[in-house]
Amino acid sequence: MFALIMLPFIAASAVIAVPTALHTRQTIAPWCEGFGDGVLDTAHNFTLAAYNTTLPNANSTGAPLVFGQAGAVDGASFKVLSTSASYPFNDFPLLSLTNGALLPNGPVQASDANVTAGQELLWVLTTVNLPTPAQIYCAVLDTSPYGGGTGFPRLAVHNDIDSFSLCSLDDPNAQNNVVYKASAINDGSYDFSTCYPVQIQIIGLD
Ligand SMILES: *[C@@H]1O[C@H](CO)[C@@H](O)[C@H](O)[C@H]1NC(C)=O
Ligand SMILES: *[C@@H]1O[C@H](CO)[C@@H](O)[C@H](O)[C@H]1NC(C)=O
Ligand SMILES: *[C@@H]1O[C@H](CO)[C@@H](O)[C@H](O)[C@H]1NC(C)=O
Ligand SMILES: *[C@@H]1O[C@H](CO)[C@@H](O)[C@H](O)[C@H]1NC(C)=O
Repeated sequence: MFALIMLPFIAASAVIAVPTALHTRQTIAPWCEGFGDGVLDTAHNFTLAAYNTTLPNANSTGAPLVFGQAGAVDGASFKVLSTSASYPFNDFPLLSLTNGALLPNGPVQASDANVTAGQELLWVLTTVNLPTPAQIYCAVLDTSPYGGGTGFPRLAVHNDIDSFSLCSLDDPNAQNNVVYKASAINDGSYDFSTCYPVQIQIIGLD
């Protein structure tokens, strides 16, 4: 009886094992499609930096980004990506990309939220009812035709590598945060007139 019950289960796992092996070689994850072969949807221990695409840059690395505050509710706090120049704290120095989810390293329960046009990239930190991380991010290597020519891999979200901006409220002390498809129509978290386009670079990958 026991053997009979187990048989279909074993057969099923054997069937699953084949596509899994093929997956790493041939299949590009959905959130990395559109950039050819030079992509990673899993990578560990890097930092991010914002490189101007229309304005001058002080160097090829770009402006360092950190997790900046974005408010809190009872039991959860929210984070955005901010320039370290505008948010001089770095609670989560390293990030990792795991199957398309971009998360801070460390003893923290964090989840990346889905992002829609006009919004800041957003994370939630909570120890209760942590949402499933959104699988939306991809690292595109500089050797790919979609590389930015600076030598660093670039971050894509929703298969889109060219729609990030840095935006803030129109106040010299405001946080300067990364927005996806910045728009004059937004939830009030930034003033569109302050926005300028950037590519998000991945620093520290081997
Ligand atoms: C990433 O860094 C952590 C320490 O922060 C280390 O334990 C881990 O081995 C590193 N992973 C890789 C793939 O380098
Ligand atoms: C990108 O341009 C902004 C606005 O002029 C500037 O503040 C920032 O330092 C520039 N970034 C780099 C990496 O030079
Ligand atoms: C590159 O320039 C930015 C903006 O001025 C600065 O914040 C950053 O520290 C510089 N990075 C390096 C590696 O020099
Ligand atoms: C995530 O956002 C994208 C872009 O706005 C949208 O197409 C997609 O349906 C969203 N996914 C979920 C699960 O809400």
